[in-house]
Amino acid sequence: SNDVVSDPKPSSGNNKTLKLAVVFGLWYFQNIVFNIYNKKALNVFPFPWLLASFQLFVGSIWMLLLWSLNLQPRPKISKPFILALLGPALFHTVGHISACVSFSKVAVSFTHVIKSSEPVFSVVFSSFLGDKYPLTVWLSILPIVLGCSLAAVTEVSFNLQGLWGALISNVGFVLRNIYSKKSLQSFKEVNGLNLYGWISIISLLYLFPVAVFVEGSQWIQGYHKAIQSVGKASTFYIWVLLSGVFYHLYNQSSYQALDEISPLTFSVGNTMKRVVVIVSTVLVFRNPVRPLNALGSAIAIFGTFLYSQANSASKKKIKEGGEIEKEKN
Ligand code: 3PG
Repeated sequence: SNDVVSDPKPSSGNNKTLKLAVVFGLWYFQNIVFNIYNKKALNVFPFPWLLASFQLFVGSIWMLLLWSLNLQPRPKISKPFILALLGPALFHTVGHISACVSFSKVAVSFTHVIKSSEPVFSVVFSSFLGDKYPLTVWLSILPIVLGCSLAAVTEVSFNLQGLWGALISNVGFVLRNIYSKKSLQSFKEVNGLNLYGWISIISLLYLFPVAVFVEGSQWIQGYHKAIQSVGKASTFYIWVLLSGVFYHLYNQSSYQALDEISPLTFSVGNTMKRVVVIVSTVLVFRNPVRPLNALGSAIAIFGTFLYSQANSASKKKIKEGGEIEKEKN
């Protein structure tokens, strides 16, 4: 219930678990709503750059309201804080816009299957930057790659831009996570909600000028076409608005979840989110799915679980090793 969620007292273990379950539930639900209305809007108004900008705009207004009504503690803004955010916000922008370009070209489920291969990018980029992974982790990313490849070659809605968009989105979000950890180390006191708020605002400033350049000349004509095909202007506005509000809400929930759990648990949670989104959007949009395509998607998702198992096993080993070292000294 509500009073549990907003309980300001330090919460007991049970309370904490319940709170986390609520945050996860909200995160999944809000993500499903976002994916449905975003795709409905894109189906009649295929301009992902404007829609993606609008979604960041809604988030920025939302945060400015929360801050000015004192519903959220205002984070102290300093030059070093903003500078530290420039990199993560840029990669967030890249991740978001390329996912939206992908959503505009292929079935939502296909974008999410490809996005379930995010751990592969995480391992590859972190290795470039010097992290070492055991063989089991490298082996676990094989089924992810194979499953995604099978899903891609059997995808009914396949489109090269749709595939590339989802892959670039993985690059963007993995670099965002790596750079956030590096550059935001000294700003740990900023809570997840405020952090995401600032990322939205800076991302909007990056994205909108480029959006005008990429597709601005087609917006007016596209708008009239969209209204014509929906039939009612207010229906179209509602879709666009819901996509914006729920985009912000699900990200806000995910950043709140990240405050409480390890990045590894977070990425497992994120994969489960994709399963839920894939199933619900296939049902809502009645997308045809070939059996081999479903098999490929399942293998890819199973691979991400193997990956998380391999990863946490290797982390445990390192930790235990460390403790043994300490005992020896
Ligand atoms: C986005 O527009 O950013 C997409 O929804 C992808 O986001 P996700 O990785 O949080 O699902």
